[in-house]
Amino acid sequence: MAKFIAVSNRRGGVGKTTVTMMLAYGLAVTGRQRVLLIDLDAQASSSLVIMGHEQWRSARDTNRTTAGLLMQVPGNDPINWKEYVTQGIGDVLLPKGERPTLDIIPSSHDLDDKELMMMIAQQARFHNISNVFDHMQDRMATIIRSAEGAYDQVIIDCAPGLSQLVWGALRAADLVLIPYIPDRTAEDNVGWFARRLMDLTGRNYRTVPNRVSGQDSRAQGIIAAISAKYPALGTQIPATQPLATALDYRDQPGTLASKFGAAAQHVSALTDAVLDVVNRPMVAAAE
Ligand SMILES: Nc1ncnc2c1ncn2[C@@H]1O[C@H](COP(=O)(O)OP(=O)(O)OP(=O)(O)O)[C@@H](O)[C@H]1O
Ligand SMILES: [Mg+2]
Repeated sequence: MAKFIAVSNRRGGVGKTTVTMMLAYGLAVTGRQRVLLIDLDAQASSSLVIMGHEQWRSARDTNRTTAGLLMQVPGNDPINWKEYVTQGIGDVLLPKGERPTLDIIPSSHDLDDKELMMMIAQQARFHNISNVFDHMQDRMATIIRSAEGAYDQVIIDCAPGLSQLVWGALRAADLVLIPYIPDRTAEDNVGWFARRLMDLTGRNYRTVPNRVSGQDSRAQGIIAAISAKYPALGTQIPATQPLATALDYRDQPGTLASKFGAAAQHVSALTDAVLDVVNRPMVAAAE
């Protein structure tokens, strides 16, 4: 059975896409897992980062995107998720030159508009807006979970903010990773999100400090304070140029080491820590 991992934080720019990409390659290449990535952000960042422009445009132009998938929200028919998948993506190969099992349902820039249109259409059916929200979230969770038997891990890159689609992904998740930058606003932001996540979904989550500067004792104080209150994954991702550069898609695929350089160790550490959590029997984070 697949494990569903949502990467989410309502705050933008904290490293959701970076963590998604690190995990996708770490799990598919180093861990030899069958990985599906679902991009639920209309910016389509992880789609572009992991498919390159050409493949992404081809998927977008044939409606094989999460905006297409969203059209399955009305009705209760069996979900046909496979037609939205692009297989064999990424610019990292296995050591013998083969492609890892890494697939994607990419996003497109009209995802927000489509979500709004879907919400308005559903309102005619339910009358009450909170019932519309609940239905959208519930149906989205079901749609996401329909990929269950085909993969070992499904990673969902969530948009910043908290749309109904993001809540659907959070409801579907076995584990929610909350990356954050350890600065002045982090504790309040992470705390609010973690509490709301527990209240609304009861989902297991882990906080992950990102863009950490090794010399910064203030940042380490913030990380210690957040980790004391909100379960931490136990790894810190440093601010390092190779992780920024790794967002560039390479037309010529190569090894994991050539993509991440000195940051490959952080990909391994993150992957091991996540596998450790998802392979453990799940215990609610609030306990
Ligand atoms: N550990 C890191 N070291 C260096 N640069 C990083 C690191 N993490 C993220 N960045 C850079 O910070 C920027 C934002 O990162 P990213 O796109 O992963 O955040 P995000 O949370 O997905 O953003 P959004 O909310 O817009 O989706 C990018 O330019 C990325 O390269
Ligand atoms: Mg992003």
